[in-house]
Amino acid sequence: MTPVHPLATSAPAVREGAGSLLHKHWPDGYGVDRRDEWLSVYREVRAETERRAENLTPEDQTVQSMPDASPVKWHRAHTTWFFEQFVLTPHAPAYRSHHPDFAFLFNSYYVAAGPRHARPKRGLLTRPDAAEVARYRAHVDEAVAAFISSAPTEQLEAAIPVFELGLQHEQQHQELMLTDILHAFSENPMTPAYDSAWHGLQCGGSAGWCDLPEGIHTIGHQGHGFCFDNETPAHRALVGPVRVCRSLVTNREWLAFMSDAGYTRPELWLSDGFAAAAAEGWAAPGHWREIDGRWFAYTLGGLQPVATEMPVCHVSYYEADAFARWVGKHLPNEAEWEVAARSGALDDAFGVVWQWTRSAYSPYPGYLPAVGALGEYNGKFMINQMVLRGSSLATPPGHTRVTYRNFFYPAARWQFTGLRLAEFPS
Ligand SMILES: [Fe+2]
Repeated sequence: MTPVHPLATSAPAVREGAGSLLHKHWPDGYGVDRRDEWLSVYREVRAETERRAENLTPEDQTVQSMPDASPVKWHRAHTTWFFEQFVLTPHAPAYRSHHPDFAFLFNSYYVAAGPRHARPKRGLLTRPDAAEVARYRAHVDEAVAAFISSAPTEQLEAAIPVFELGLQHEQQHQELMLTDILHAFSENPMTPAYDSAWHGLQCGGSAGWCDLPEGIHTIGHQGHGFCFDNETPAHRALVGPVRVCRSLVTNREWLAFMSDAGYTRPELWLSDGFAAAAAEGWAAPGHWREIDGRWFAYTLGGLQPVATEMPVCHVSYYEADAFARWVGKHLPNEAEWEVAARSGALDDAFGVVWQWTRSAYSPYPGYLPAVGALGEYNGKFMINQMVLRGSSLATPPGHTRVTYRNFFYPAARWQFTGLRLAEFPS
C-alpha cells in the first residue's frame, strides 16, 4: 500500500539522525582525522552543562526534592564519572582517578560497574561541594582532551563510540538538570526563578489532522549517525488508519477538562491513574497553583499566569490518557507518531513538550542491548514505562531525532510532558 504522506526530505527538523542534526559540529565518522572535531564537540557539550548550572548557588545544586530528581551537583559529577568509567579507565591506561570514592557516589544504576550510593540519598551529600565537583570535571576534561589528542589510533577508534555515547548521555542530563531544579524550586515558598528571562513555552500550532491511511511503514533508526540502542532495529509496522492531530493540546483545553470535573470522574481514568490522582491530590497539571481564582504555573522563569493558548505541560501519562478519553479520542502510538512526524505534518513535534504515546516502552523486534555494563543503559528499563516522542524546550539544541524514544513511568509529571491527540477516521 502506498502511504499518502511520503517521507519528507526537505524538513530538517524531522530528518533522521545525521551528524548535522545531532549537533552543528558533530563529526560524521569515527576516524582519527576527526580528533579536533571530537574535542570541539566535547568542550561544547561540557560547557553547556556548566552554563545551565551557573545561575545556581552551591546550595541550589545540593538539594534533592524527591527520589526521582537528582541534585544539579550530582548531574555535573555523574556525567563526568561516565567518561571516567567508560572511556578513560578502560581505554587510557595512564589515567588516574580524581578521587577513589567518586565511582561509588556518582555511579547511577550500572550494577555491572560496581556498588553505588542510594539514589534517594543523593541530596544528603554536602561533600564533595560544588567547587570540588568543578575540580573533578576539570580533571576529567584534561584527561579526555589528552586522550583524544594523543591516543594511538587503535585505542581512539575503540573508545570513540562510547565517548560519543557519553556526550549524548550528558545532553540527556542537561535536560534533567532543568526539570529537577524546577521541581526543587517549586518546593520553595519564595518561588525563585531559575532564569528571570526564561521565555516559557512557545508554539505555533495549527488546526487540522494528519491522515494516515492503513499502510506498512518502517520505523526506527537506520542509516548513519548516532542513535540510542532502543531506537533499533528499524522494522516494519502496520500503521493506521488513524488521524493524528497537528497541534498539541493547550492549557485552554485542559482548563475545560478541569471545569468538567475531569480529575474526579472515574469513568475517564485507568484504575492505576485514578488511584494515583487521588493519592497525590491531582486537580491540575504539575506546577499549577490557583491563586485568588486564577491559575498560575510555576516555570523556570518563576510563577507565571497560565497562558491559555500554550501547550499544556507537566501532565502524567495517566492524565493525558484521561484527557483523551474525555475528548472521545486517544493518544497516538509511537509508530503513528513517527510516521506522522516524518511526513512533516505535525506542528511543534520538537522543542516544546515531549508527547506521551500510548505505546508501552518495550524492545523493538530483534533488539539486543550492548554487552557489559553499557547494556544497562536502556534495555533493563523496558517494563512498566510509556514512550514519549519529540523533544521539549529543555532538550539541548540538536539532541533530537524523529526516532528518539524517551520513556517515563506513567505517573511521572515533573518532566516537560504534554500530548497531542489521535482519532480513528469515521
Ligand atoms: Fe546517567
